[in-house]
Amino acid sequence: MAVSEAPREQAGPGEPWRPLAGRTVVLGVSGGIAAYKAAELVRLLTGEGARVRCVMTAAAREFIGPLTLQTLSGAPVATELFDLTQESEIGHIKLADDADLVLVAPATADLIARMAAGMADDLLTTVMLATRAPVLLAPAMNVNMWSHPLVEANVERLVGTRRVLMVGPGAGFLACGWVGPGRMAEPVAIVEAARRALTRQDLAGRKVLVTAGPTAEAIDPVRFIGNRSSGKMGFALAAAAAARGAEVTLIAGPVGLTAPLGVTRVDVEDARAMQREVMAREGGADVLVMAAAVADYRAQGQAAHKLTKEELGAELRLELTANPDILAGVGLARAERARTRPLLVGFAAETPSAGSAGDARDAELVARARGKLTRKRCDLVVANDVSTQGVGFGGDESRLLVVGKDAVEVLAPGTKAALAHGVWDQIVKVLP
Ligand code: CTP
Repeated sequence: MAVSEAPREQAGPGEPWRPLAGRTVVLGVSGGIAAYKAAELVRLLTGEGARVRCVMTAAAREFIGPLTLQTLSGAPVATELFDLTQESEIGHIKLADDADLVLVAPATADLIARMAAGMADDLLTTVMLATRAPVLLAPAMNVNMWSHPLVEANVERLVGTRRVLMVGPGAGFLACGWVGPGRMAEPVAIVEAARRALTRQDLAGRKVLVTAGPTAEAIDPVRFIGNRSSGKMGFALAAAAAARGAEVTLIAGPVGLTAPLGVTRVDVEDARAMQREVMAREGGADVLVMAAAVADYRAQGQAAHKLTKEELGAELRLELTANPDILAGVGLARAERARTRPLLVGFAAETPSAGSAGDARDAELVARARGKLTRKRCDLVVANDVSTQGVGFGGDESRLLVVGKDAVEVLAPGTKAALAHGVWDQIVKVLP
């Protein structure tokens, strides 16, 4: 998915984990077969809490009925520039002014050409020209049209204005029978691009490395030593960084989660593999966030075959070897070479003493986090109380404290998606 950078002055101030909530999206639909996917887009956008106002070109109405979009969006569909009733009830300048984002999906070669020429010969092109909101285009057309030098020049011209963003097109089977680029990006990818267009791009140009999940240390081909980490926090951190414009690589232990859109995923099984992948990339990263719950030990020697009951015996004794401390290793390497990059962020999942509560409990969390910060030479440690059921490991919510050398920031409790942005807010503050 190709998503160009959002113009800074247009970036929205809303909740970064729900950037579309409460925002007005003008969805322009032009006349291509992919217009039928506009219905799904309206559903997804309203599901994100956006107010959707649909504008259809005359050609779009040959492919999908306005009633469909009107019903799904719960608002009248605007189609005509010169219709007296529509103009008094909706108003093309009001549509342009109210928009936080103008999304055009599908954007046909004709629509792109008219916009590139600065034309305003129907309602949609007029709104696109009159708005101060970012305009996000999801092109869809035949492969030969997409690769035509005139279309390429038009696209380049539009993106060059820095007011127009693009998502897609992808490659695949096209309705016209050809296979290749020209297929409109999938609705979920378009919605993700819309979210990004309204998110502050304060990590643009930054390379971010995130580790997530547990590691599984094999005993034999089917058994392993692991832990309860779900990987959700690390995946949320990777998604948040990508949404804020970073180039993100996510090194994931064995988890059944889908990688966030636009994130490069590297799957690993055990701690040593995770260490190899981290060490190969940390030198080029601006930030390393170690959210993975790395297994402290691995079995000494691994059986090549599945151990039988007989081999295991009535009492199994496993010899364990300590795993390398990945974060401490990067901290040491950075110190030895007097580097400042990457900024190092560790996690500390803790179960404070049974008796402690409130401030004393937080003080204990902070003290443990500071110990790790010093030992592993990192810049920030995110402390997490995992002793409460349903909070922390595996759950969707968490309570986090971001601990620096001198300062502590208690993040407002919330979902992992919200907390991930809270963590990045703190990281951005200390990034050189
Ligand atoms: N970590 C790591 N490599 C390890 C163990 C931990 O990189 N072998 C990282 C984790 O990803 C995390 C931080 O170090 O960011 C702290 O992990 P934690 O398990 O809390 O630290 P430990 O050093 O194992 O401390 P404890 O004595 O609390 O177990």
